[in-house]
Amino acid sequence: MQQLVIGAGSAIAQALIQQSLQQGDSIVAVSRQASSCEELSAGGRLRWLQCDYTESSIDAVCAELQESGVAFDRVTICNGILHDESLSPEKRLENAAIERLETVMRINAFIPLLWVKALKPLFKVKRKPCVITALSARVGSIGDNERGGWYAYRASKAALNMLLKTAALEYQREAKLVQFLLFHPGTTDSPLSKPFQKNISPKKLFTPQFVASQLLRLQGELTPDLPIQFIDWQGKQVEW
Ligand SMILES: NC(=O)c1ccc[n+]([C@@H]2O[C@H](COP(=O)([O-])OP(=O)(O)OC[C@H]3O[C@@H](n4cnc5c(N)ncnc54)[C@H](OP(=O)(O)O)[C@@H]3O)[C@@H](O)[C@H]2O)c1
Repeated sequence: MQQLVIGAGSAIAQALIQQSLQQGDSIVAVSRQASSCEELSAGGRLRWLQCDYTESSIDAVCAELQESGVAFDRVTICNGILHDESLSPEKRLENAAIERLETVMRINAFIPLLWVKALKPLFKVKRKPCVITALSARVGSIGDNERGGWYAYRASKAALNMLLKTAALEYQREAKLVQFLLFHPGTTDSPLSKPFQKNISPKKLFTPQFVASQLLRLQGELTPDLPIQFIDWQGKQVEW
């Protein structure tokens, strides 16, 4: 299989890349940093592209991919932040702040949409089945929100879901063989979840390797003909 992994520096993406290479796939990986798994260049099956995720750099990567004539079977978009050096998730309404809301929305919702937009011409030329996955989160479910908190992260994942559902409907008309998947990995041991792991029982804290293997399996088992599905690591539907 030919795969494109965006946000390839993520812990889940790294596991996905390693397992995909082991099963013989070819990967184009996109990240802000240069390759962190060079030892895995895998006889030319791993190509690493740097991108700063501005609209122009996303367009440039997609133009290069189109030029190379590559046809992807899987595209997986892993970008997402919950906290960084200066921002932590809001416990209460009083913590909501415009800068944080804008930053989290841009990275978690708008950047994935820009990729889906810039990749569309590739799928109109190369007509073959493909699954485009974005890493979403159950906390982005409006129906499932019973605890509140984490305003920016919740809203950004809800927005991601809506943006990709809308894009999936448009792809249905113009690139019918592309299906979309919004994937909730469960709480996974990664830099993103590190500060929030203390109340999670070890059984419920997944390794990136486990999550990657579930994702690879589920991408191959999607219900045909549905433009988009929102499922968790077990393959169970998540309420929108
Ligand atoms: N870990 C969990 O418990 C959990 C639970 C639910 C959902 N998720 C989702 O799973 C996905 C992967 O997360 P992870 O757990 O593997 O986290 P991680 O290791 O912290 O990965 C962070 C990801 O966000 C990207 N990123 C960070 N800062 C960015 C910025 N300023 N601009 C653009 N992209 C930026 C990174 O891209 P680069 O490759 O360019 O560095 C990387 O893909 C995220 O979308 C997350 O929301 C995770």
